[in-house]
Amino acid sequence: MTLKYPDAKLAKTLPAASEGSVYDLCFDKEVGRWKNWLKLDSADTAPINPKTSFLDIMVTTIDTVRYACLFDLLVDHGKHVLFAGPTGTGKTVYIQAALDKKDKSKVRSIMSTFSAQTNANAVQDIIDSKLDKRRKGVFGPPVGFERAVVFVDDLNMPSLEEYGAQPPIELVRCVLGLSQILPTVSSPCVTIYRALLVTLTSTVVY
Ligand SMILES: Nc1ncnc2c1ncn2[C@@H]1O[C@H](COP(=O)(O)OP(=O)(O)OP(=O)(O)O)[C@@H](O)[C@H]1O
Ligand SMILES: [Mg+2]
Repeated sequence: MTLKYPDAKLAKTLPAASEGSVYDLCFDKEVGRWKNWLKLDSADTAPINPKTSFLDIMVTTIDTVRYACLFDLLVDHGKHVLFAGPTGTGKTVYIQAALDKKDKSKVRSIMSTFSAQTNANAVQDIIDSKLDKRRKGVFGPPVGFERAVVFVDDLNMPSLEEYGAQPPIELVRCVLGLSQILPTVSSPCVTIYRALLVTLTSTVVY
């Protein structure tokens, strides 16, 4: 089979199998070649400053670069993000570091962590208190900001209610699917505008 343009052009740039699996490589549009994630310009491979406090050290690995890059792409294009992975693998530190690098004059980040005690009212409170009311029934980032990023860590934590559901997660699902928070007895239906949800959840490994 003969490849036609642009496939033929791409085929020449395909990496050798010795360069690793497809997950180790990223297509660098600037130079039109596949590159290891750690060789991208965005990978901070400079030696760690000896004066940095031990707790603040973040070692650049293929995962830190890869997930930060995917996170940036999704947030820049206005997509909600869900990162799932085994506990203790660095999800919180990677995404917090990537969020810290965002332009703070354009992106308003709102941090929140779910716990076993988090209930549906807590999710409603995040929307009411951290987002600005733009007009009647519509909440969004404060004036002057392009976007709000609501970071919800440990999404899986809320405990099950009597019937086995997790109401805070149901509300998050409403925001993801409908961009709306469904009304509670005391509040009307609210539409969410220009706000992204970045959620992290642990997966259980059996
Ligand atoms: N690349 C890294 N450089 C430095 N420390 C790291 C790195 N990756 C993970 N760690 C450390 O591993 C520990 C666990 O990371 P973290 O709390 O982010 O995991 P997690 O995936 O969010 O876990 P959980 O699902 O339980 O919330 C932290 O102390 C973090 O500092
Ligand atoms: Mg975490």
